[in-house]
Order: sequence, then structure tokens, then C-alpha cells
Amino acid sequence: MSYTVTLKASGKTFQAKPSQTILEAASDAGITIPYGCRSGMCGSCKGQLLSGNVMLEDYQKSALTEQEKSDGLILCCKALATESITIDIRESEEEEIIKSKITPVRVESLENLNKDVIKMMLKLPGDEKLQFKAGQYIEFIMADNSRRAFSLANPPHQGLLELHLRLIEGGKFTQFVFNEMKEKSIHRIEAPIGQFYLRESEKPIVFVAGGTGFAPIKSVIEDLIFNNIKRPIFLYRGAGSFEDLYMHDLAKNWANKINEFSYIPVSEKIPKNNDQLRIGLVHHAVLEDFKSLANVQVYCCGAPGLVQTAFESFTKKGLPEDEFYADAFTFAPPKNN
Ligand code: FES
Repeated sequence: MSYTVTLKASGKTFQAKPSQTILEAASDAGITIPYGCRSGMCGSCKGQLLSGNVMLEDYQKSALTEQEKSDGLILCCKALATESITIDIRESEEEEIIKSKITPVRVESLENLNKDVIKMMLKLPGDEKLQFKAGQYIEFIMADNSRRAFSLANPPHQGLLELHLRLIEGGKFTQFVFNEMKEKSIHRIEAPIGQFYLRESEKPIVFVAGGTGFAPIKSVIEDLIFNNIKRPIFLYRGAGSFEDLYMHDLAKNWANKINEFSYIPVSEKIPKNNDQLRIGLVHHAVLEDFKSLANVQVYCCGAPGLVQTAFESFTKKGLPEDEFYADAFTFAPPKNN
């Protein structure tokens, strides 16, 4: 049994099984609707239910408020059709999305970037190179088939895949990293996934990174440099303390070498040294620096709270809603597939 899903704008239809989310069914039908975390955390897959009914699986309230829910909005990554439905959601008019695939990878190296972030380099079999867009992510498939998502921190032209893993004392994934992800061990990943990548424009770019949300932004910036794309760039990095700003020197080098590149590290705590850090919250620094955000694109990656707050406050300051690109999956809980 399956139900028909109709997309209002294009009139396209596809079939969804009762066990399939709308997002999965659309993807199986070769239709791309916007998504980010695929786990009810970011709100990127929000659409308006115009007719029919769905059942919503668990999601985070910041991704879909009670008001939005009672206004008929749904999260396509968490909605299961219980009858045929019509929804209003924009289709991604992106250039071709690279289809993800499951592939084995070998852990080439593990290196501490600071006390709780590890850089992991992965290699695909033989001379294979992963085709992806800078900013996309991969999912580790663990032995019990649960998955953990991590952004790729390397640009696509580099052969090895680079991940930044935040370790949590006593956490299940941290145990997995220490016990099973030894150098040379083999694992399975699905890649590439996600719609967090640079959109063509001449507008200045404001990057906002919290914690390991720096990883996909590093990938995008290194890809911009490689392709000699010149746009004014403002990189805001937020961290609890100065010590959390791993790869700080790399970001300073970009600012020194690239025209129209500003690096603004922001620490919640006053640092011991004085490395031109701003004190406070990273999205506040953006709001202080820009009189209006009407003519920029924002790429924001970090905890769901940061993404949500940044979206709300930036759009109030003139940022068009469709110029805010976000990835909030970094802190998503593991999901079973
Ligand atoms: S909430 Fe559905 S993709 Fe993030």
C-alpha cells in the first residue's frame, strides 16, 4: 500500500509507503525537497500540508513550533503519510544533487586538535575519490546500523576525507571512536548527504560557525580558494573559550592572505591571552557589526540553538529568509536506519 503525495507548486506526484517519511519517498522518486539534518532538528524540510493527513515522529520543538504545527506546517523528514496528501514546499532548483552511496572507508589517521576535538582522515578504496559539494556531510554506519553524521571538512579536490569529531566523556560515540576507530580500521559510510553548500551569488558571505560547525565552513572556504572565487567573506567563529577555537591559526592565515576576508573569533569567556577575540555570543557579534543583513548570504553551522537564534535575529535585521543556509545536524542524536 502507498499514498500519493502531490507537490502544489509543480504538480508533481510521487508515492509514499506508510513506513517512509515524505523526504525519503521524494528522494526515492528523484525529487529533491530541501533538507538539512534529516532528523527533525533544523527545520529545513518544513512544508505546508494543504490536504490529507500525516503522522509526525519525534522532532525538536525549535524545528517546528506548536504555532507552526497548528498552522498546518510539517517536517517532511519526520512526516509519514496516513492518506494521500498535497503539500506546499519548494523543490530544490539546485544543480544536480550527487546521489549518496554506501562505501567502505579506512581510517588513515587520528589527531587531537584540542582537548575534545579529533581530526579523522578517511580513505576510500583504491584511487576512488568521493564526489561531493563542499559543505556536505557523511554518515557513519555503526555495527548496530545506527548512524552518526559528520560534515566533511576537506574541499572536494582533496583525496582524503577530513572529519572533526567532538568527543564527549562517557558518550557512546566517543567510546566507539576510542575502541573501534583505530587507525587502519575499516568502516562503512553513506555519502555525500546534505544541502549545505555555497549558492552562486555576488553577495558578501557571512559564515557563522559554532564549535565543530567550523568543519563544513572550512570545506567551503578551501573550495572557494581552490576555485579562485572572489567574494567578500566574514568568518565568525563562536566558542566557549579561546582553547576551543581549534585551527585558529589556519583561519588567521586566510584573513592575512585573502583580500576582503575578515576573521572574527568570538569567545564566551575572557581569554588569558589577547588574540583579538571578541567576547560574547557569536550571533551577537554579527548583529553588532552589520547595520543591515539585507544584502548578504549567511551560512550558519553549529548547535540547533545557535542556528535557530541566528535565523530569527538575522531575518529581523533584514536578511531574506532564503539567504540563510544552515546545517544543524552536528549535534543530532544517533538515528537508526
Ligand atoms: S528538520 Fe527535517 S531536515 Fe532537518
